Amino acid sequence: MKPLIIAANWKMHKTLEEAEEFSWELKRKLSSRNEIAIFAPYPLILAVHRILGKTKILIGAQNCHQEELGPFTGEVSAPALKNVGCKIVLLGHSERRQLFGESNALINKKIKVALKNGLKTMLCIGETDVQRKKGRTFPVLESQIRECLAGLSDMDVKKVIIAYEPVWAIGTGITATPAQAQEAHAFIRKTISNLFGKNAALQMRILYGGSVNEKNASSLFKERDIDGALVGSASLDIQKFLRISNAH
Ligand code: PGA
Repeated sequence: MKPLIIAANWKMHKTLEEAEEFSWELKRKLSSRNEIAIFAPYPLILAVHRILGKTKILIGAQNCHQEELGPFTGEVSAPALKNVGCKIVLLGHSERRQLFGESNALINKKIKVALKNGLKTMLCIGETDVQRKKGRTFPVLESQIRECLAGLSDMDVKKVIIAYEPVWAIGTGITATPAQAQEAHAFIRKTISNLFGKNAALQMRILYGGSVNEKNASSLFKERDIDGALVGSASLDIQKFLRISNAH
């Protein structure tokens, strides 16, 4: 069995002290061979890196700007993230799409600048409740993948991880059933195969996100096309996150 990827998305949570405490505990207690990623708020990245930088844990940011530098007050660039120890950046999260108006075209630019600067990317995609009810899930996923990954080379695609996060499952306590998630993941893999070839599809890691917790994680991980999880609220508590991280 290949190792899973378990990623924590802290969103706009945690103080410096809390981030440090979490990181020490993770370093002490992590016992699985799963791959772990921590998406921390910008000001906490360096502190997390000081504790976990020498481990295999991937330290990441939750966003970056699409330009490498310039007069963009309040924004953070991919080179700056790389410089403080980031290995990966989360892009296209539904909260960025919905609350900050990010389009597939903008996310595509961000992915390109991240990859150019040596950062892996985790691309989030997913349909809303209304889109699912209208039977639009697959076309929505297809266009998100096609537009967000437009112009990427085969080498680039190897550095991308996809997180399928149905918007209706994020922060709601309603998890997609393992069967619903598997159906979407299989479709995503087929779409990658159509766009980038069979090999890319086989190698693509596809995580599920949306109300994943220490109770439902294992049943999701049993599904063939689910390669791990992107965890929001349950990633804030180190004990819960460890239990998910040690699942297989
Ligand atoms: P949740 O968030 O686990 O709290 O639903 C997941 C996410 O937004 O990545």
